[in-house]
Amino acid sequence: MRNPKDFFKPMAIGAPEPPREIPFRPSRMIHFFDPSNPKMAAKAPSIAAKCDVLLGNLEDAIAADKKTEAREGFVKIAKENDFGDCQLWTRVNSLDSPWFLDDMWQIVQEVGDKVDVIMVPKVEGPWDIHYVDRLLAQLEARAGVKKPILIHAILETALGVANVEEISGASPRMQGLSLGPADLAASRRMKTTRVGGGHPGYLVRQDPNPDDAEAPRATAQQDLWHYTIARMVDACVANGIFAYYGPFGDIRDVVACEDQFRNAFLLGCVGAWSLHPVQIDIAKKVFSPPVDEVLWAKKVIAEMGDGTGAVMIDGKMQDDATVKQCKVMVELARMLAEKDSDLKAAYQF
Ligand code: GLV
Ligand code: MG
Repeated sequence: MRNPKDFFKPMAIGAPEPPREIPFRPSRMIHFFDPSNPKMAAKAPSIAAKCDVLLGNLEDAIAADKKTEAREGFVKIAKENDFGDCQLWTRVNSLDSPWFLDDMWQIVQEVGDKVDVIMVPKVEGPWDIHYVDRLLAQLEARAGVKKPILIHAILETALGVANVEEISGASPRMQGLSLGPADLAASRRMKTTRVGGGHPGYLVRQDPNPDDAEAPRATAQQDLWHYTIARMVDACVANGIFAYYGPFGDIRDVVACEDQFRNAFLLGCVGAWSLHPVQIDIAKKVFSPPVDEVLWAKKVIAEMGDGTGAVMIDGKMQDDATVKQCKVMVELARMLAEKDSDLKAAYQF
């Protein structure tokens, strides 16, 4: 075990000090783009204007013969643009791939001061984070980077899920975790070929009618991802970092995408990936607390005075715990309102 007194010392001489806490920044959607695609690269500034996080993807979905173009494209975009309050992230290739080292080296060296977060795929345990942590410190020191680059890990292997608590607390740089349902399904040998969402075969069925064995029995699809999202949220919050739902692959099924995002929001996630502009709007809608809930929460907080004791409001019991629930809603709303004037007006701040 590392001496806790050393935990916040830089891991390399000359590297910036690791952060003591991860401040919340709106990140309702992490919008993925392919930096090797000149059309997408050209659209990056206009997309950034609508997004909380823009992420240049270097990993899966980028063909092997496009890896260098993607990396160089990302560096060029980062150099040429200032995306204002839209954060700039990248997803590098996996630690065992032939591209990881060059991804890290080139990005930190050339645009280390512009990148907020590096997303690391297929993280299996705290050892993966320790390695990235030390490497980042060495690269930051060499490149003279002033602000520590944060690490976001994708939870997409069975071993990663088994180690999720240790991964979340493996470094002060840890910013958050995303659920990667496609790789995770493969790793677990789940029998779904979908990227996120439900499955018609995963269901519960109503009991048979005792008077009519042939009568139709209602079924309801269940949520394949409930356990993992809930576990990920606990691991993240326990370690002062943020949880995200990952990709929803069926771009045309905007209804199911919204449901999947909302389930994640209700369970404690702060955002989700968007793979297409249509999903940006869905994430914005879902991960901004509903206006009626915010107004209700403000009312509860106001009526509860110092926050202790109990009162009835519209027939509903309120006490110390419900005030805390309401504060979660209002604090998030307040932070989003700072960024978005329409929300500010709607939430009546
Ligand atoms: C994302 O990377 C996934 O595998 O779902
Ligand atoms: Mg994946």
